[in-house]
Amino acid sequence: MCGIVAYAGVRAATPILLQGLRKLEYRGYDSAGIAIHRKDGIKIYKQEGKVSNLVDSLGDYQHDPDHEQAHVGIAHTRWATHGPPTTANAHPHPAGNGRIALVHNGIIENYRGLKAKLAAEGHIFLSDTDSEVLAHLVDHYYEGDLLEAITKALKEVDGTYGIACICEDEPGKLIVARKGSPIVIGLGDGETIVASDASAIISHTRQAIYLDDNDIAVIEDGKVDIRTLDSSPVQRDIADIDWSADAAEKGGYEHYMLKEIFEQPEAIRNAIRGRVDAERGTAVLSGLGLTPRELVEFHRLLIVGCGTSLNAGLVGEYAVEDFAAMLGEVEQAAEFRYRNPIVGSKDLVVAISQSGETADTLAAVREAIDKGAMVAGLVNVVGSTIARETGRGIYLHAGPEISVASTKAFTCQVSVLLMIALKLARGRRMSLQNGRSIAQKILNIPSLVERVLAKNDEIAKVAEHFVKFENMFYIGRGYMFPVALEGALKIKEISYIHAEAYNAAELKHGPIALLDENMPVVALMNKGPGQEKTVGNVEECRARKAPVLGVITEGDDEAREACDWVIEIPECPHFIATIVATTALQLFSYHVARLRGCSIDQPRNLAKSVTVE
Ligand code: AGP
Repeated sequence: MCGIVAYAGVRAATPILLQGLRKLEYRGYDSAGIAIHRKDGIKIYKQEGKVSNLVDSLGDYQHDPDHEQAHVGIAHTRWATHGPPTTANAHPHPAGNGRIALVHNGIIENYRGLKAKLAAEGHIFLSDTDSEVLAHLVDHYYEGDLLEAITKALKEVDGTYGIACICEDEPGKLIVARKGSPIVIGLGDGETIVASDASAIISHTRQAIYLDDNDIAVIEDGKVDIRTLDSSPVQRDIADIDWSADAAEKGGYEHYMLKEIFEQPEAIRNAIRGRVDAERGTAVLSGLGLTPRELVEFHRLLIVGCGTSLNAGLVGEYAVEDFAAMLGEVEQAAEFRYRNPIVGSKDLVVAISQSGETADTLAAVREAIDKGAMVAGLVNVVGSTIARETGRGIYLHAGPEISVASTKAFTCQVSVLLMIALKLARGRRMSLQNGRSIAQKILNIPSLVERVLAKNDEIAKVAEHFVKFENMFYIGRGYMFPVALEGALKIKEISYIHAEAYNAAELKHGPIALLDENMPVVALMNKGPGQEKTVGNVEECRARKAPVLGVITEGDDEAREACDWVIEIPECPHFIATIVATTALQLFSYHVARLRGCSIDQPRNLAKSVTVE
């Protein structure tokens, strides 16, 4: 998820583009750039790092006639997906010897094939990005009509895009288009400001058009002409933006955490996009750089991580045993690095980290490498240290996660771990038929998560009953145990309620002593292996007057009767419910913390990335 800004009007474009980039920096902050149409043609300025690096590199642009007289421009702040955060990989990307400049937000899935074709025609690529290929494809089709060239190019790409493009031969013209990534067009007085979201527009105008998928808009002299990819003209509604600037950055949500919870369907789609082969009933994980033949050589999948990433890892351990009948083990990274672990060349080690910078996980990576294991990263931040040091792995594509309490990273991590387990299983005893069935279930995850998000108000109502408690237990069995761990971690982090998670069977071996009317229990009792046993454990809790909130399968009246309150989730196998039920518990903890007046996005004592031991 990157941030795009573009301007066509009567004012100097540069200050407007830079101000817009600052507003969109939460969407991506590893490099930034602008391209402006000056009298002497298009000039591109780009820098690695934060927008402030770019601003510093522009010097006194406020009083530079080249900038003052440039009234059209495009800009971008990057969240790397293909190619590390470098100046070369920053946008805008030039093509046709600088005649064309383009910025892109999204993922071009078939970029490798297109790149090879264009390179064979003599196109020279300056970056590792998929986006640059699109710029060259536009140039490939350019014969004096930018709209025609962009239309032809977009018809050839698979994947998602939000783009803005300018061309030296057509001064004053700006063309933008979208499929899957947002583009908002702000209608000003004789000027037009375009951005990935309203936060970069509302200081100029509150009149905006939200492009639909497959829309292309030609912007010139304050006029906006919208067509679809098959060139038929369309009218789009003009919306009134009534948000504050702060609300706009949060997309209208009160907190980044809630925004990121609601981003999960799209984030998970990005995490699985192009990686599930439903026909062959397997997963395509080219970033691992391992052939199926090499994958079957491994005896054990060993997962290391911390916090939420560790909880996701536990789901991975269960899945690889379940799907592939292969040894799976998850290790807390700090324990792993100091315990002189038994690990070697027959181990595939996966280091999970949203930030890619967590000190203990990084050290565990180095330890595993030194012990001769094959080590891969499962990371969200492209170009981060763990990604670079492992040199192989899978990027989450979850987009920036701003809230300290990790949410969408967890559900994307589990989605990818299920794909890893499927891949390992298909290389072993899993049949094509079973593989296809699991592949289909993975593809259905986003729509199941959407069904839970639709219950947000119901979950907020249930949360009201828990605001007064200072302690809580979470219980679950099998795949639902890591869900209990993650639920307890979330409510601890943001509401400061002391919460413990247990395998439900463990209660009787001690913790049950703490149960009374002041110790509520959240029980994962959705249909699946061990559910009846968990219902039994819940009755033991209620016998000690402990209030019980049950996460149950929709329509399961028997389970409902065993609880004081319930949150219903759609019926699904437990390995999928690890994501669906966790989404419900994320919302639950969010609302409990909100009602307790806690500072949700920056909880006390915590940091988004723990880079110290
Ligand atoms: C989760 O909400 C916390 N922010 C924390 O436990 C986090 O998961 C842990 O610090 C690991 O971070 P990483 O995934 O960036 O390595």
